[in-house]
Amino acid sequence: AVVTFVSRDGEEREVSLEEGSSLMQIATNNAVPGIDGDCGGEAACGTCHVIVDPQWSELVGRSGSEEEEMLAMNPERQPTSRLSCQMLVSAAWDGLIVQTPEFQM
Ligand code: FES
Repeated sequence: AVVTFVSRDGEEREVSLEEGSSLMQIATNNAVPGIDGDCGGEAACGTCHVIVDPQWSELVGRSGSEEEEMLAMNPERQPTSRLSCQMLVSAAWDGLIVQTPEFQM
């Protein structure tokens, strides 16, 4: 199972999904450019922002209230934005596509 991270300029990076990890952990373990995860997954830094491909948004779910507080301050925020540290990976996400923003906060 894989997830594809797409950078703002269209560069794709495929990473294996590990069920039970957060999407942020997977990204940082694989050194995906554009995902920092500075707070270690506490929904407190906003540097793990991803924009979920709209086709996947319903399956992976929308942001919760803690995420909303961080995302509200983000100028690159989109309707399907999430904090990837708050996304617990499921095997059903095989083929997931997320975009990384131009800048992390
Ligand atoms: Fe800090 Fe997600 S890693 S908000």
